[in-house]
Amino acid sequence: MRTILLWLARNQWLRQRLPRLAFMRRAVRRFMPGESMGDALVAAGPLQAAGIGTIYTRLGENLTEPAAAEVVANHYLALMDRIAELGIDGEISVKPTQLGLDLDADATFGHLAALATRAAEVRSFVWIDMEGSAYAEATIALYERVRGIHLNTGICLQAYLRRTAADVERLLPLDPAIRLVKGAYDEPAAIAFRHRRDVDANYLAVAAHLLRQTRSRPVRVGLGTHDVGLIERIAEHVAPSGVARDAFQVEMLYGIRARDQFRLARDGYRVQTLIAYGDYWYPWYMRRLAERPANVLFALRQLLP
Ligand code: FDA
Repeated sequence: MRTILLWLARNQWLRQRLPRLAFMRRAVRRFMPGESMGDALVAAGPLQAAGIGTIYTRLGENLTEPAAAEVVANHYLALMDRIAELGIDGEISVKPTQLGLDLDADATFGHLAALATRAAEVRSFVWIDMEGSAYAEATIALYERVRGIHLNTGICLQAYLRRTAADVERLLPLDPAIRLVKGAYDEPAAIAFRHRRDVDANYLAVAAHLLRQTRSRPVRVGLGTHDVGLIERIAEHVAPSGVARDAFQVEMLYGIRARDQFRLARDGYRVQTLIAYGDYWYPWYMRRLAERPANVLFALRQLLP
């Protein structure tokens, strides 16, 4: 089921047609407060009141025109101004191919550097998402370049990739900010762990290693997962080494395990909610369905009057 849904996510024909269907538009609202920047910012209110920070991502990927990447970069610059005006504790998260990585890596670097500069002015932070494995090397190289200049930048690494432990070692000399996720794409066994047990074991090992670094250097760690049991296991695992539960951030997606997000914040964890918005939601939404095929039933129920 996961493989089929991830294939559907990549299918260009469906990408153009399915988002027009009313039931799909209703279903996606479960994970997205709306399509506009304003919708996303309004959703921050109750979260901020509970001490939960927000991260914003405007959905989009694999842009084919340099001018479109510029539009995206300008959108994020305006978003950071708005976040500052509203006094929101907010950061941004961008996909490299949404800033033109398929077209021109230097131009993508330029966009990221401009975003990081503005982020520093408004005391915000820029996260770089990790896409399919074909982009892993280029994305890490991009991060090395940006992080060399801008400290307020972080990268997402995926625990299902066999290379991730080595990538962490490679990045550690930069005192990086790393968001660790399990991974949302369909990757072959040659390069990725395919079984949940193995992904979780690698997640725990990489997270614990990173968290132990936080005792002696300014490494920032985000645990980007809804697996509350795993987060609690990691916290217990590193506690004897003197790593407290506020040494890392828990990052979850808007609309998923919402009650747990508030509970973890009450329990002393530092929580951030990633709010996605925009009209190009189809592949992103299909990846959310693939993570939990029961979501397909929820989507189909939206067919009912
Ligand atoms: P897991 O799949 O084991 O789920 C644990 C529990 O969480 C489930 O039992 C269920 O209760 C709940 N849950 C998880 N997904 C759900 C869903 N879609 N709907 C409803 N409930 C769900 N990936 C990537 O490849 N590149 C990236 O840049 C990012 N960025 C990113 C940022 C943030 C803040 C998060 C939280 C996640 C990502 N991801 C990502 C996605 C990530 O790789 C992964 O696919 C999802 O987080 C789902 O896996 P979990 O870690 O939640 O665990």
